[in-house]
Amino acid sequence: MTIIVTGGAGFIGSNFIFHMLAEHPEDRIICLDKLTYAGNLSTLKDIMDKPNFRFVKLDICDREGVYQLFEEEKPDAVVNFAAESHVDRSIENPSIFLQTNIIGTSVLMDACRAFGNVRYHQVSTDEVYGDLPLDRPDLFFTEETPIHTSSPYSSSKAGADLLVLAYLRTYGLPVTISRCSNNYGPYHFPEKLIPLMIANCLNDKPLPVYGEGKNVRDWLYVEDHCKAIDLILHKGRIGEVYNVGGHNEMANIDIVKLICHELHKPESLITHVTDRKGHDMRYAIDPTKIHSELGWLPETKFEDGIKKTIRWYLDNKPWWEEIISGEYQNYYERMYGNR
Ligand code: NAD
Ligand code: TYD
Repeated sequence: MTIIVTGGAGFIGSNFIFHMLAEHPEDRIICLDKLTYAGNLSTLKDIMDKPNFRFVKLDICDREGVYQLFEEEKPDAVVNFAAESHVDRSIENPSIFLQTNIIGTSVLMDACRAFGNVRYHQVSTDEVYGDLPLDRPDLFFTEETPIHTSSPYSSSKAGADLLVLAYLRTYGLPVTISRCSNNYGPYHFPEKLIPLMIANCLNDKPLPVYGEGKNVRDWLYVEDHCKAIDLILHKGRIGEVYNVGGHNEMANIDIVKLICHELHKPESLITHVTDRKGHDMRYAIDPTKIHSELGWLPETKFEDGIKKTIRWYLDNKPWWEEIISGEYQNYYERMYGNR
């Protein structure tokens, strides 16, 4: 198979590409990425020269460029990770979220239609379901939970999901959607909770916890998410939505304290800061469907995954230090400027 993976220079997309190259060496993987602030080409440096891998710097909203790539590569499938993904940034500036997350999705699906009804998978999020109250631990998101978004980010992802289902019904495009809970692991951009707290701890900087830190997220090790998408791509039923999550709910404050503990740093670094506007209280996925239909189960327990993740950030300081300094954005120029 030839698979176009969009957003593959970001956190989950890069992990997915590594997973696919290792598990399906017969496949050809094309990474299409605009290299926004969240994309880091150095993440892909070890695979750049593989004969069955190609990187293309392109915006998913660039219709002409996307169609030309489809013409060249004749893909069998598209997995769309490309998105503006940070809730806080969406509160500051919603419009780029609508552009990339909704318009970009429609351009990719139009290309899929134009080039032979190419199989399309949309990587979505549990945030499309809104949030759950803290005092109802019996409640979980199922695939039947109504869409009820809180932030411009989640609204743009929900808009894209609706469009994906409309392309199935209207045009018969063979689509699937996965809605996953919060991921953590290697190559996570250090503006998100876990990598930010690790980096700040290591730099003895304050650890900014929004509000009281009681908000609950359902954390999944990124490799488990990648395995779920691989399964859905190969065995998922067309037109279906699959929730992905591992029943690992934790309050933010407990995560931050755990990171302090693992890195032998004092909890006095924790600083409570003004809460996020419209801050979702609790996310919790019911993964029954993907388990019973596709046999998926998470393999990495949080206590192991968080240790592996912290070890990765300790062993790969240049990767995140270059991000914090801004130097990573020159990498493309350095690599390709004179080619
Ligand atoms: P990320 O921000 O780390 O990476 C996004 C990537 O998309 C970057 O490489 C960026 O350069 C690229 N990109 C952005 N706009 C683009 C455009 N217009 N054209 C081409 N490329 C573009 O994001 P992530 O955390 O890896 O998330 C990937 C996907 O998974 C997103 O769709 C997100 O909504 C979804 N998701 C994320 C999580 C999570 O916990 N991170 C959980 C569930 C779902
Ligand atoms: P984040 O990693 O941005 O993911 P999401 O908002 O998509 O769940 O944030 C995870 C949680 O951590 C969320 O409840 C907001 C909170 N948070 C902080 O308390 N401090 C921070 O500096 C960040 C980035 C997030």
